[in-house]
Amino acid sequence: MVVGSVLVTGGTGYIGSFTALALLEADYKVVIVDNLYNSSDEVLNRIELICGKRPEYEACDITDENKLDAVFEKHPDIDNVIHFAALKAVGESGEIPLEYYRVNVFGSLCLLRSMAKHNVTNIVFSSSATVYGDATRFPDMIPIPEHCPLGPTNPYGNTKFGVETMITDHVNAERAKAKKAGKSGNEFNAALLRYFNPAGSHPSGIMGEDPQGVPYNLLPLLAQVAVGKREKLLVFGDDYASKDGTAIRDYIHILDLANGHLVALNHLREKNPGVRAWNLGTGKGSTVYDMIKAFSAAVGRDLPYEVAPRRAGDVLNLTANATRANSELGWSTKFTLEDACEDLWRWTENNPQGYRQQPPKEFVEK
Ligand code: NAD
Ligand code: WQD
Repeated sequence: MVVGSVLVTGGTGYIGSFTALALLEADYKVVIVDNLYNSSDEVLNRIELICGKRPEYEACDITDENKLDAVFEKHPDIDNVIHFAALKAVGESGEIPLEYYRVNVFGSLCLLRSMAKHNVTNIVFSSSATVYGDATRFPDMIPIPEHCPLGPTNPYGNTKFGVETMITDHVNAERAKAKKAGKSGNEFNAALLRYFNPAGSHPSGIMGEDPQGVPYNLLPLLAQVAVGKREKLLVFGDDYASKDGTAIRDYIHILDLANGHLVALNHLREKNPGVRAWNLGTGKGSTVYDMIKAFSAAVGRDLPYEVAPRRAGDVLNLTANATRANSELGWSTKFTLEDACEDLWRWTENNPQGYRQQPPKEFVEK
């Protein structure tokens, strides 16, 4: 029995692929649109190997509104959208901001317009903790609640803030229009999910993060150190006001994050809340040294690192207050940092070339 149909933009990427898996496991039909800019369609095979179901895949750039229209027309049963497709490298966004605005903002505009034409009214949007900027400027707002004033500090963050605003304005306008016409307008809903730092892989070891270029996030870089692709990790600053001098982040297991999308979508469909933001994090902060220790334990040996200057734009502490998602969505995290590190290591060991190689034999022969 299919409970609903979801268009997942960016669904072959890291978070999108795990969410597609969670949706299929919960009996949703999944149609992925992606242009494979930062992903591989091999992930479709891996999803099928894990859950026995395959998402449908449409090659599509989200900045091509006609193509999006064609996808909605080909799949008239789609009644929800989860929108991941975006460019996401903070540093790069400062070098080519217009490209970030084109893909992230204009692409989202095309998607909203195409959804409107096809009467699709629920959207779950991938936002980011980056919309809070340096929340440590409000010391009583750590861990960060959703009502913390927003203040992104880079073009990538500005695009996320801009799309949150665009979705909010659009959904509120559609609701108001419907009410004026004597209807409820309750069908127009949006979840703005502000993720903290996604981590880990599938426990099977056959699905994980596979960035196409040079990674810039801590765990993928540590994984490269562990397999000898990188000599050592550079620790960006040991002079922060934390227990060991390194910066604090909230690392959330990718399975918990994916599940957050499923419960948010169900909440939109069942409770019709209008526009609502939810933080998805564990509420627990870990320093860079905590992460090196945890991942070294998973690998079984100490990984080399060296202290370097602070990275421009980094802040001391980004930890979520996730009580709103806990109480309103009934969502909480189940996996630990140790789980994330062990799963990441299994994925890295099994797939040194990521998705550019066959899955381990035992899975194919099952
Ligand atoms: P990802 O790069 O793995 O996934 C993004 C996907 O979008 C990729 O498959 C890529 O090919 C696709 N894509 C890019 N441009 C496209 C276009 N024009 N048309 C169609 N598809 C396009 O990234 P991810 O880590 O899975 O992130 C997913 C979403 O979550 C993004 O919106 C990102 O900004 C947001 N986010 C990520 C993090 C993180 O640390 N990974 C944290 C917070 C928010
Ligand atoms: C984590 C910590 C670094 C690399 C970014 C985006 C954010 C969100 C998640 C998309 C920091 C330290 C890192 C290294 C290090 N993405 N570090 N050496 O910066 O918290 O968040 O990804 O929305 O918007 O900004 O994640 O993994 O890059 O860094 O010491 O080689 O690890 O300084 O304290 P970040 P990260």
